[in-house]
Amino acid sequence: MKKRNILLRVTTVFVAATLFLNGCTAGGSTAPVNSVSTENPPVSVSVSEEVVASTETGTSTPNEIIISVPQWTKKEDVTDEQKEEQADEYLPLRDAVDAKIGALVGCCVNNTTIKNKNVWNIVTEDFSAVTFENELKPQSLLQWGSKCTEITTAKIGKKTIDVPTIHFFTADSMCNKILKWNEENPDRKIVIRGHVLVWHSQTPEWFFHEGYDKSNPYVDKKTMNLRLEWYIKTVLEHYCGEDSKYAGLFYAWDVVNEAVSDNGGKLRSDSENSSEKASADYHNNNSTWWTIYQSNEYIINAFKYANKYAPESVELYYNDYNECDSTKRQGIIELLKAIKEEEGEPGKGTRIDGMGMQGHYSVSYPESFAFSSTAQMYGKVVGKVMITELDLKASSDYDGSAESKEKEYEKIKKQYSRLYKSIQYADSMDEVDIAGITFWGVSDKDSWLQSTSSIGGGNSKGYKQCPLLFDEKYEKKPCYYVFAE
Ligand code: GLA
Repeated sequence: MKKRNILLRVTTVFVAATLFLNGCTAGGSTAPVNSVSTENPPVSVSVSEEVVASTETGTSTPNEIIISVPQWTKKEDVTDEQKEEQADEYLPLRDAVDAKIGALVGCCVNNTTIKNKNVWNIVTEDFSAVTFENELKPQSLLQWGSKCTEITTAKIGKKTIDVPTIHFFTADSMCNKILKWNEENPDRKIVIRGHVLVWHSQTPEWFFHEGYDKSNPYVDKKTMNLRLEWYIKTVLEHYCGEDSKYAGLFYAWDVVNEAVSDNGGKLRSDSENSSEKASADYHNNNSTWWTIYQSNEYIINAFKYANKYAPESVELYYNDYNECDSTKRQGIIELLKAIKEEEGEPGKGTRIDGMGMQGHYSVSYPESFAFSSTAQMYGKVVGKVMITELDLKASSDYDGSAESKEKEYEKIKKQYSRLYKSIQYADSMDEVDIAGITFWGVSDKDSWLQSTSSIGGGNSKGYKQCPLLFDEKYEKKPCYYVFAE
């Protein structure tokens, strides 16, 4: 990598000390990162002569974290020659992050964004992994409405059961595009995170009822176990089976999503939100899985079935949000332990390879220490941790105006910078391997935070937020360079 940047050598001891003493920013006191003027967009990077500043204290010389800090000049001052030179200053995200922490860098795409040339160019240049926003959720693979009208039969063990038809077409067409890219670019392959097999939300209510019709009574646990096994088997065999054309394309699956409640860290129940009717076509907060099982049994079984049908090369994850909140975190840890306790051979026990910290954060949350200590706690139970849906909600005083946006960009850059340092810090601990960072989208334009969303989160103030690394014109934002360094 051709670099003539200011190099700041910060020892991990220094970073750790800052973390513990300030209880906040890993590198907050290494001010130069944060004090760089960003009056211009990042295309205008120009490079100063090399300076090496050392902040090392004492005699210890542990591994160094090198932070390169670009100097910014006005856009109009930059010549074409300089621009070309600047392009060489940074590695694509996937290479930069891989070099620094040996992790995949992903983004979420959906069936519309993947067809957008600007998005596709960014995906293939900067990312080593993708997650499909909706297309592999039960909502997309099963049929919508109050009942299922496409019922066939399938065998699970010796039993023949009625099953709904699974619609693989849309997700397949997205997989085909990635597959084609991989065939043509064997050195720049992109892998897929399967998202998600079991979730209380975006799953049709009829799936839990007799005859796949929500006007009928709920099925019993035994029947639901057969349906659960059949669903996991069918989806995993389709995408990860030995004979699948997609074999080798998926690196992981989120087996269960968001099964822990925000209220006290217990398991999510069917009374999380009193305004959600049990008779709705699908639920946002309440869990019909809970209605049928009243325990963690469906979660344990989901990991058992995933272990039975996923090849060993495909990692299995539990995934959740508000994962740094201390009460909810405790609930998640208890659940991870319960899944772990049942570990065994495929067909006999569970397998869990990692914890997905969704990472729907904000410009001020979480503090660095909260992130790294949380990652460490999860790592102690399951080893691997991935940040699976990273984005940053805007600050409360952000009003969407151009002026406020400039300030917000700076805040977002600072928070991503703090976060990335605590990711590096966590990754340097023995107990935890941060194996992936996935951003929940490519450009701000396509983020779920740009519009009010019926599935939670969204934009409550009527203005568009700017949570990601690329702006609405698909240009790199200043925060991009936090990770491209
Ligand atoms: C959760 C889910 C994601 C997505 C986001 C909102 O985090 O895991 O699949 O629906 O909400 O976009």
